[in-house]
Amino acid sequence: MERPRRGKSSPPGQWKQGKPYGGIRLKRHSDSQLIDMELDGRKSRLVLGPLACLELHKYVRHSAPVYLVDKTVAELHAPWLDNIQAECPRGGGSVYHLPAGEKCKSMAVLDEVFHWLAERALPRDGTIVGMGGGAALDLAGMAAATWRRGVDYVALPTTLLAMVDASLGGKTGLNTAGLKNPVGCFHPALAILADCGFLATLPRRRWREGMAEMIKTAALGDVHLFDELHSTRDRLGQYLRNGPADEPVPGILGALPWQDWIARTAAVKASLVTRDFREKGPRKALNLGHTLGHVLEARAMEQGEDLGHGQAVAIGMAVVFRIAAERGTCPLASAVQVLEILDACGLPTTYPVFAPEEIERLLAGDKKGSTRAGLRWILPVRIGKMDLNGRVSTEEILRWLDEPR
Ligand SMILES: NC(=O)c1ccc[n+]([C@@H]2O[C@H](COP(=O)([O-])OP(=O)(O)OC[C@H]3O[C@@H](n4cnc5c(N)ncnc54)[C@H](O)[C@@H]3O)[C@@H](O)[C@H]2O)c1
Ligand SMILES: [Zn+2]
Repeated sequence: MERPRRGKSSPPGQWKQGKPYGGIRLKRHSDSQLIDMELDGRKSRLVLGPLACLELHKYVRHSAPVYLVDKTVAELHAPWLDNIQAECPRGGGSVYHLPAGEKCKSMAVLDEVFHWLAERALPRDGTIVGMGGGAALDLAGMAAATWRRGVDYVALPTTLLAMVDASLGGKTGLNTAGLKNPVGCFHPALAILADCGFLATLPRRRWREGMAEMIKTAALGDVHLFDELHSTRDRLGQYLRNGPADEPVPGILGALPWQDWIARTAAVKASLVTRDFREKGPRKALNLGHTLGHVLEARAMEQGEDLGHGQAVAIGMAVVFRIAAERGTCPLASAVQVLEILDACGLPTTYPVFAPEEIERLLAGDKKGSTRAGLRWILPVRIGKMDLNGRVSTEEILRWLDEPR
């Protein structure tokens, strides 16, 4: 994989202030972008650019950092991992290979990591560096949050989804008791160093899943980005609509403005999590498409179907846009545009209808959106504006889940 060579890091104060996103500013310096957040009183900085990972040393306090790295990423990007370690003057540090993807998010793996940290005597002022997709980062963040009651954490996201979503906002999580993410805590990364170069090896399926979250975030928070994604959908479609799901997507990195899109998506999320760290209000908008998405994910798991989170969210989004358009509370044109972009990205927008009792049983398991008054849905009002207290009946879900009639 071709990557730019290391250049000089940016002198402080030379970042240009960019467009504000609800209080968050996207700052630019040559080919990098920067977002500063303050989460729960702690500073958290996203650096997005070709050499971002080599800035790790700026965020490491005293002792050598330790690295918790997704195994596949460690194999595919071994030279780059060596580079990162070599550039961190506090010493190479040790690398732990996490099982690839979702398998790492278990209590058993966390316990193994704790033993490994104990062998290395990682002190209270040490740093854990997580590197990989959202799963590796959730586990690494959890380890950093709990080891010696919290050590510094730096995230190096390597999937599109992790760059626009999972690495931002301070949530960590583990799977246990047959449930997804029931255990976790808030522990923001001191820095998130994101380099699109890692996406060169990302399988098409993961690109699609990341796009589901990007489309979601644009739809709820950035009209201009949404319009751009829509007007670029033919080009997106050339790379993502068809083609082997498990293979990388040749040419996609150079064909579209990924860094810019990731920065703008991240700015929307950064703005929401900064204003509402504990998800009491505006941050809930990020659950657009997720209420039904979680139902479908749980259903697929029970049925042994292959339906990823991003795919489930895509269907969830398509359904709430159809419902709102039919009610006349959201323009039909917006719903059509959402469906068009999802389709171009090779994401599903329908799911075969199943029994209403099943839908209700699985909805009851979605604790995220529930209040004493009942489950609240994120319903679109228009692109850029969501109703956070929507109600949806099972009949409406059934009417709009499969091919609209
Ligand atoms: N904490 C949060 O706020 C938050 C938000 C959204 C999602 N998540 C979590 O994120 C996880 C999903 O993350 P994900 O979609 O990044 O998937 P993932 O971390 O499971 O990674 C997907 C696959 O891609 C591989 N991979 C990673 N980077 C690669 C690269 N550059 N090239 C080739 N292969 C690569 C991994 O080995 C894995 O097999 C879920 O566990 C979800 O719960 C957390
Ligand atoms: Zn999601």
